[in-house]
Amino acid sequence: MASPKVAVVGAGVIGLSTALCITEICPSCSVTVFSDQFSPNTTSDVAAGMLIPHTYPDTPIHRQKQWFKETFTYLFAISNSAEASEAGIHLVSGWQVFKSTPKEELPFWSDIVLGFRPMSEAELQKFPQHRFGQAFTTLKCDCPPYLLWLEKRLKATGTQMYTRKVSDLWELQSEYDIVVNCTGMGAQQLVGDKQLFPVRGQVLKVHAPWVKQFIRDGDGLTYIYPGIHKVTLGGTREKGNWSLSPDAYTTRDIFDRCCSLEPSLQAAQDIKVKVGLRPSRQCVRVQTEVLSQGGVKLPVVHNYGHGAGGFSVHRGTAKEAAHLVEACISALQGSSSRAKL
Ligand SMILES: Cc1cc2nc3c(=O)[nH]c(=O)nc-3n(C[C@H](O)[C@H](O)[C@H](O)COP(=O)(O)OP(=O)(O)OC[C@H]3O[C@@H](n4cnc5c(N)ncnc54)[C@H](O)[C@@H]3O)c2cc1C
Ligand SMILES: *[C@@H]1O[C@H](CO)[C@@H](O)[C@H](O)[C@H]1NC(C)=O
Ligand SMILES: *[C@@H]1O[C@H](CO)[C@@H](O)[C@H](O)[C@H]1NC(C)=O
Ligand SMILES: *[C@@H]1O[C@H](CO)[C@@H](O)[C@H](O)[C@H]1NC(C)=O
Repeated sequence: MASPKVAVVGAGVIGLSTALCITEICPSCSVTVFSDQFSPNTTSDVAAGMLIPHTYPDTPIHRQKQWFKETFTYLFAISNSAEASEAGIHLVSGWQVFKSTPKEELPFWSDIVLGFRPMSEAELQKFPQHRFGQAFTTLKCDCPPYLLWLEKRLKATGTQMYTRKVSDLWELQSEYDIVVNCTGMGAQQLVGDKQLFPVRGQVLKVHAPWVKQFIRDGDGLTYIYPGIHKVTLGGTREKGNWSLSPDAYTTRDIFDRCCSLEPSLQAAQDIKVKVGLRPSRQCVRVQTEVLSQGGVKLPVVHNYGHGAGGFSVHRGTAKEAAHLVEACISALQGSSSRAKL
C-alpha cells in the first residue's frame, strides 16, 4: 500500500478536524472528505463554538480533560498567531453565574481555561438574582470562519472534498482502505446507533458590538457569547426533538432571558434565529470497528456523538481518531506484507 486511501464522511467541525489530523499524523495517506452538507449548512455552523466543556456521563473524566486540554492548547496557539482573524479564533473573558452555590465549585476544566477564580462581590452586583459566580477567560471558534479555515488547510494538503450523501458505507469499500465516520446526528440514520439522540438547540445571532464579556447561567440554558461579528444568545435543550424550524415563542423567551442577564441587549439589532440538533450520546464514540460482509473486511473509525460540547473537545478526539486510523494502516500493511511472503 504505497498511499493508503482514507475516506472521511462528514464535514462539520469533527469531520474536518479529523481529516486534518490524519494528514498530519499520516502524511503518506490520501484523504477524501464526503459530506452531504458543508459549511455554512452543518450543525457546527449553528453552534456558538465556546470552549466550555459539556460533561459526558459515560466517558472517563481524565479522557475528557485530555481532549479539552489538547483542543485548548491547539486553538490558543492559533489565537496567538497571524491566522487568528481568518480562523475566527479569539479569547473571550466573562462570567458563569449561579443562583445557588454549585455542588462542584471547581469544574474539571478550571485549570485549563485561563485565570479561573470566584467572582468578586463587586462583579456579582451586576447579577442581583445570582449568589455565586466564576470568572475566567476561554477561547471561542467563530463559524463559518473556523470551518472554512479548516477546509482551506485541507485543500492545501491535497485533500479532495465532495458533496455526497453516503447511504451505506460499503459504497466506499471498493475505493478506500479505511472509512472514518464523523456524521454527527447522521450516524443514527445511516444504519442506526440507538444510543444517539438529538438535543434541539435554538439560538439567536444578534448585532450588539458593545457586549464584550460572555455571560453563562450555570444551568447551561441561558447564555450570551460574543463573537467577532455577532453575539450568540441561547438557548434551549430539547431532548428527542427533530424540528429544525425556529419557534417564535422560544425566540422571545431566549431574548427575554438574555436581557434579564444583560439589559443592554434590549438595543440589539439584526436578530437572526438558528436551530441545530446536538448529536448526543452518554459517551462520545471514538472507536475502531472492523466490518465484514461476505469475507470482505472494512475498517471503520468512528468519531461522533459530541452532543453539546463538540467544539470544546474536537481537536483531542480528532487526534485520537487519527491515531486509530494510523493503527489500522499498520495492521493492513502488516497483513499485506505477510500475504506477499
Ligand atoms: C445551538 C447549539 C449551540 C452549541 N454551542 C456549542 C458551544 O458553544 N460549544 C461547543 O463545544 N459545542 C456547542 N454545540 C455543540 C456542537 O455544535 C456539536 O457538538 C458539533 O457541532 C458536532 O459536530 P459534528 O461534526 O459531529 O456534527 P455536524 O456539524 O452535524 O456535522 C456532521 C456532518 O456529517 C454530514 N453527514 C451526516 N450524515 C451523512 C451521510 N449519511 N452522508 C454524508 N454526510 C453526512 C453532515 O452533512 C455534516 O457535514 C452547540 C450545538 C448547538 C445545536
Ligand atoms: C447551503 O444550502 C443552501 C440552501 O440549500 C445552498 O444553496 C448552498 O449551496 C449550500 N452551501 C453549501 C456550501 O453546500
Ligand atoms: C457511522 O456510525 C453509525 C453508528 O455505528 C453506523 O450505523 C454507520 O454505518 C456509520 N457510517 C459510516 C459512513 O461509517
Ligand atoms: C419540538 O420543538 C418545537 C419548538 O420548540 C415545538 O413547537 C414542538 O412542539 C416540539 N415537538 C415535539 C414533538 O416535542
